[in-house]
Amino acid sequence: MNLAIVGSGYVGLVTGTCFAEVGHRVVCVDNDLKKVHQLQDGQIPIYEPGLEELVKKNVAAGRLSFTASIEHAVAESLVIFIAVPTPPQPDGSVDLSFVEGVAREIAVHIKDYRIVVDKSTVPVKTGEKVAQTIKRYNPGADIDVVSNPEFLREGSAVEDLMKPDRIVIGVSSDRATGPMKEIYSPFNAPIMVTDLNSAELIKHASNSFLALKISYINAVAAICEASGANIERVADGMGADKRIGRAFLNTGIGYGGSCFPKDLSAFIRISDELGCDFRLLKEVEAINRDQKERFLKKVRESLWVLRHKKIGVLGLAFKGNTDDVRSSVAIDIVRQLIVEGADIRAYDPKAMDKARPLLPEVKMVAQAEEVADSADAILLLTEWNEFKSLPWQAMKKRMLSPLLFDGRNLLNPEEMRAFGFTYTSIGR
Ligand code: UDX
Repeated sequence: MNLAIVGSGYVGLVTGTCFAEVGHRVVCVDNDLKKVHQLQDGQIPIYEPGLEELVKKNVAAGRLSFTASIEHAVAESLVIFIAVPTPPQPDGSVDLSFVEGVAREIAVHIKDYRIVVDKSTVPVKTGEKVAQTIKRYNPGADIDVVSNPEFLREGSAVEDLMKPDRIVIGVSSDRATGPMKEIYSPFNAPIMVTDLNSAELIKHASNSFLALKISYINAVAAICEASGANIERVADGMGADKRIGRAFLNTGIGYGGSCFPKDLSAFIRISDELGCDFRLLKEVEAINRDQKERFLKKVRESLWVLRHKKIGVLGLAFKGNTDDVRSSVAIDIVRQLIVEGADIRAYDPKAMDKARPLLPEVKMVAQAEEVADSADAILLLTEWNEFKSLPWQAMKKRMLSPLLFDGRNLLNPEEMRAFGFTYTSIGR
């Protein structure tokens, strides 16, 4: 089928590429001409395992192309996906102006029947507004609006998209159901067809529930510390119950990224607007903020004064396997250490280029081991697997004092203590 994806950011690019991979003919649109040219030349603006190969393969096969022209994309495609950013605003709501702008642009170019699909994460009732907008700017437009939320995780986006747990399709009329099912039939995943509003709610409710799981385990970790229990054993014991599940019960310094913090505040906000005070989610946010503070408190308690202390930081991305530093708790923690006068050396396998402008005071080093040089402490802040196999024993020798704070419970406490570290982690 001929498909257009408007917005070649994270979601748009990965979705378009995977649609092409299963045989659809996809045109990805972006208003950033530089990005369009980069993509046409096979340069991928984000780090996402497996993506570059797939883009090159599908461009070469003639199934994937890039353009800045919405007019061309609308003319060529039966289904047009909107995958533009929905950034947070200071009051917690989301800025829907990009979605609205694209709806208007699409509207004026619609001549025959078209299905307009919202892929961006949006508050419930946005689809209704998109339909109204298109009708306002093109009263004769023959359209259906669909909500088809994306559940991909950064770092495993291609895999999540190619092997999804479920596909959610929220339709405003049955006419759109057939083509939407056809698009997804090669993915061999359960397809759930709902009304428009339910599909939009599934996305916000799912992400908020995952964040709730993380805050829950982080709160339990604090009780483990106070009682001498071990959070890993507790999470394993809880997670063995199929009704609970072990996933997203990993304690740490709190959740970050471009989705959870934004989606939670947007969900709280839209619930408020609909007359429902979602107090539970406000507590989820509060626990997440506390988690960062509890970690910093441990560092202060050990180092006492932070001024002029040399601190080595491992990890700046908001989680492992990505170069994304948006709403990264690691960045927040480093900023606070700088405010308190610490001298920071940092290393991240992929995120240093994106972190540099945010942390101009930080010396980024080329090798992870170098963060240990004359350090008063090392802080591990991102769950990169490769940090498990660093030459820790040798690194300890390079430090001024062997304090190691593991904000992700990534390392083995017994092993680290055997190497001579004063090792602190979370809830164990
Ligand atoms: C999330 C959702 O998982 C995905 O379905 C949605 O489409 C977009 O938002 P993403 O933001 O890429 O994906 O990352 P995710 O793997 O969910 O992690 C989010 C944050 O939670 C990270 O900061 C991570 O470090 C943290 N986390 C995750 C934990 O602290 N503990 C866990 O057990 C899991």
